Amino acid sequence: MEERKLRLQPRLQMLANMIPQGARLADVGTDHGYLPVWLLQEGRIRRAIASDINAEPLAHARRTAEAYGTAEAMDFRLCAGLDGIVPGEADVVVIAGMGGETICAILEAAPWLRDGAELLLQPMTKTEELRAWLSASGYRLLEERLVEDKDFLYPILRTAGGTMPPMNDEELWAGRLLESDPLWGRYLTQQQGRIQKRLDGLRRARREADAGELLRLEKLYMALEGRKERWNREHGTRD
Ligand SMILES: C[S@@+](CC[C@H](N)C(=O)[O-])C[C@H]1O[C@@H](n2cnc3c(N)ncnc32)[C@H](O)[C@@H]1O
Repeated sequence: MEERKLRLQPRLQMLANMIPQGARLADVGTDHGYLPVWLLQEGRIRRAIASDINAEPLAHARRTAEAYGTAEAMDFRLCAGLDGIVPGEADVVVIAGMGGETICAILEAAPWLRDGAELLLQPMTKTEELRAWLSASGYRLLEERLVEDKDFLYPILRTAGGTMPPMNDEELWAGRLLESDPLWGRYLTQQQGRIQKRLDGLRRARREADAGELLRLEKLYMALEGRKERWNREHGTRD
């Protein structure tokens, strides 16, 4: 019988492409389990731990693995973050499809991750908070990439224990290693849209106490505008 093959959506495909050949993977918050199952089907990784804090998503991952014939090479762990994963079990840890704050909390609870494992983080929200947390918490950024999925640009951060110079506001919002990414100009526009929404909210609220924050956000918006104009000129693009 012909082997059934999974197809990944662009966001998961980009993550899959960033995982080194032969790795032992932990996919934290695996849900459907598509990422580890695809990687095993393609022979890209040796083994995978698929973990989730909720039983139903973990059962979904198990069903996916059984349907595509990869269950033998997988362990399924019902646990919060990395609570059920022991240091040294995985070379690469993926935490994807969650809010930036949740990702920070998961990393905070597993300080041993700084010693050895490589992390691939794909936040759905608040990437600037995640970047700030990493730079203040003993991590260095190795790579940042953007992927477009359903008209939205998602950053993916490859990081590992180490140090890096602190990031300023602009870098937290624009990314530090994204300048060569073909989608960076559009990412800046997307980030400006988020800043604009905050500005609109603050302006509507008309609170004196927000004056400093308003000024900070206005400066940030203009700084991203300057970067975007330079980048568009250099790349001959307009967004
Ligand atoms: C939106 S899904 C993302 C699934 C997959 N990683 C992806 O990127 O497509 C988020 C999953 O993370 C799980 N989750 C949320 N908080 C978690 C935590 N603290 N530890 C482990 N899993 C968590 C949820 O149960 C859910 O299955």
